[in-house]
Amino acid sequence: MLTGYTDRLSVRPGETLSFMVSTDAPVFKAEIVRLLHGDADPRGPGRREVPIESPANGEYPGMEQPLFPGSCVVVPDHADLRLTDDFTLFAWIYPTRPGHGEQVILSKEGEDETGYALGLTDTGRLFLRLGPSRIEGEEPVAERRWHWIAARYDAASGSARLSAGLHPRDLSIAGEPGAAGHLPRAAGSDTALLIAASMAGGRPGLFFNGKIADPCIFGKCLGDAELAGFVSAADFSALPQPLIAAWDFNVGSDGTEVRDIGGRGLHGTTHQSPVRLMTGPHWSGENDDPMADPRGYSAIHFHEDSLSDANWSESFAFAVPSDLPSGVYTARLKAGGETDDLPFLVCPRNGQATAPLALLVPTFTYVAYGNEMWRDYGLNCAYDRYVDGAGVPFASLRHPIKTFRPGRGLLKSVAGEHFGRHLCADLYAVDWLDAIDQPVDIITDHDLHREGEALLKPYKAVMTGSHPEYVSGRMLDAFETYLGAGGSLAYLGGNGFYSVTSLSEDGNTIEVRRPNGTRPWISNPGEARHALTGEIGGLWRSRGRAPQRLVGVGFTAQGWTSHDVCGLPRPYRQVADRKHPLAAALLANIVEDEMIGDFQTLGLGVGAAGDEVDRADPVLGTPAHALVLATATGFSADYQLVIDERRDINEASTLPDNPLVRSDIVCFETAQGGLVFSVGSMQWFSALSHNGYDNTVATMTRNVLKRMLRAA
Ligand SMILES: [Fe+2]
Repeated sequence: MLTGYTDRLSVRPGETLSFMVSTDAPVFKAEIVRLLHGDADPRGPGRREVPIESPANGEYPGMEQPLFPGSCVVVPDHADLRLTDDFTLFAWIYPTRPGHGEQVILSKEGEDETGYALGLTDTGRLFLRLGPSRIEGEEPVAERRWHWIAARYDAASGSARLSAGLHPRDLSIAGEPGAAGHLPRAAGSDTALLIAASMAGGRPGLFFNGKIADPCIFGKCLGDAELAGFVSAADFSALPQPLIAAWDFNVGSDGTEVRDIGGRGLHGTTHQSPVRLMTGPHWSGENDDPMADPRGYSAIHFHEDSLSDANWSESFAFAVPSDLPSGVYTARLKAGGETDDLPFLVCPRNGQATAPLALLVPTFTYVAYGNEMWRDYGLNCAYDRYVDGAGVPFASLRHPIKTFRPGRGLLKSVAGEHFGRHLCADLYAVDWLDAIDQPVDIITDHDLHREGEALLKPYKAVMTGSHPEYVSGRMLDAFETYLGAGGSLAYLGGNGFYSVTSLSEDGNTIEVRRPNGTRPWISNPGEARHALTGEIGGLWRSRGRAPQRLVGVGFTAQGWTSHDVCGLPRPYRQVADRKHPLAAALLANIVEDEMIGDFQTLGLGVGAAGDEVDRADPVLGTPAHALVLATATGFSADYQLVIDERRDINEASTLPDNPLVRSDIVCFETAQGGLVFSVGSMQWFSALSHNGYDNTVATMTRNVLKRMLRAA
């Protein structure tokens, strides 16, 4: 095993990048390499890379660095939380995986059998543990049902009671999960208090899967009437006294703070990104805005396999020389016959463009797809589900990102061949730009989100990567401002500018919610808002910012079968009037009626249109004067219309030759003298190197850049 990650994806000359590596070998080698082409396929240029001389090159001691997934809340030790006298523990819980191992809901216990824990046994029954002793409920709790639960303890008599009840609106008839018994007093533990986990193993463990809301601790053994009154009032501001702590999960949802409203300042922090801003037991469905209904959004969803930061130790660092050209680089690792790459992007120094053209590398999309198809426990991305089936709304760069590699990945074409997406595909463009001696600066989504239009401003033209699917509002604003100031944008991919994406303050984690659109999982009712920003998640189209408005085309079909194979691509047929001056310029040196991209590519087969493809649509915002230059049709049945366009289901739903299943090449000039050009296909770049870079796709792309970069 040899893998790792960097502390960020892009870096600038003069900065230092950290590499975290895990290997079972005693020593590993690292070498900094510039990447031009990562696909070894002999039908293309093969691997093209340039070794970089660096003091970072060399041997380093190997170290195995494990992953410790599992989300919870950590509240630092405080004498008031040790509970060596009477107490009541209370919470609302929505267990999603009861019966799968012991799961702790609220605990303050150490390795020495001190303290207390309230949780579920491995058969899903409630338990209260005091030191080494425990009582257990009679019947398991019900899966995916809201229950209130309470553990009450009378220290003088040693009487302990577990009580629970279903939500009053739940019609289920369930067994009696409560219990009563005697427990000897236990010594207080000085460990942290954990919500949704336990420190009994020395680090957070025994994670709870499911939602928790309104956890609180009282400094007495509540009476039945008092407890019933509190449950039915559902009022978190009128808590029984004496109150020790009550955590309002709605507060601070955009960060890691967990606020104690009990007055003693017993605040906590979230650990490994549990999902916040979740509907709780008090959500009525009347409001989907957590800001307008804070009590409705009082829950956090915890998962045993949530991981936002592997927190590995630095293995080595690379000080980026001040004269290192902007480009795509990697730290090539070797140990015991294994090799891995930890790629990174080198951007130019702040605001100092070194080329008239920038390639915007879609790092948000790289992270969103980070570990797609990899089944490593805890290595999740926005295409995965947690162990309880809930969609993963987060994707982090602080752990290995297995799909962020220069070569082909796990995905296959119908011919059974692996093919490249993401970095591998975007390197096809890097290689081609190098082959035609076109200087280019590398910039990234993360930088664009942080810096806005100022990042684009120095460039005459910006080109995208092959799949810029995930973008933030700030990024869309930056593009609009840039185009409004006369900039030019070449969108050379497919399904771009599609999903509302937000970035955590520290830049490590993106968030995506999936209430609509074509998607790998579906957000639960009421849970469309991003925890990080409070904004409405889902498609930009549903927020009035369909991709067609910005680049003329937007997602319309994809060629993915249910067994993760992508259907054959198609070539483009010219459809524009070649006498139109813009068409004449962009189709120059391409024979009239010649199909565009009608040859074997490094991607899915014959054709430059494929994978995820886009179409022009004035209804969705394609500018009125936009010109459709070419269109690809005749896709196989593997290509289906996106969910976004389906209003009903009937016998016509899967008929072949749906006119909306196509890929359009569109261009339009802006009022400020810029040009927008879009290909609406993830396969475009895979065609660039065919026939020694002399082909219709390369010619057209070259025409576009020439036009965009021409002197004013
Ligand atoms: Fe996609």
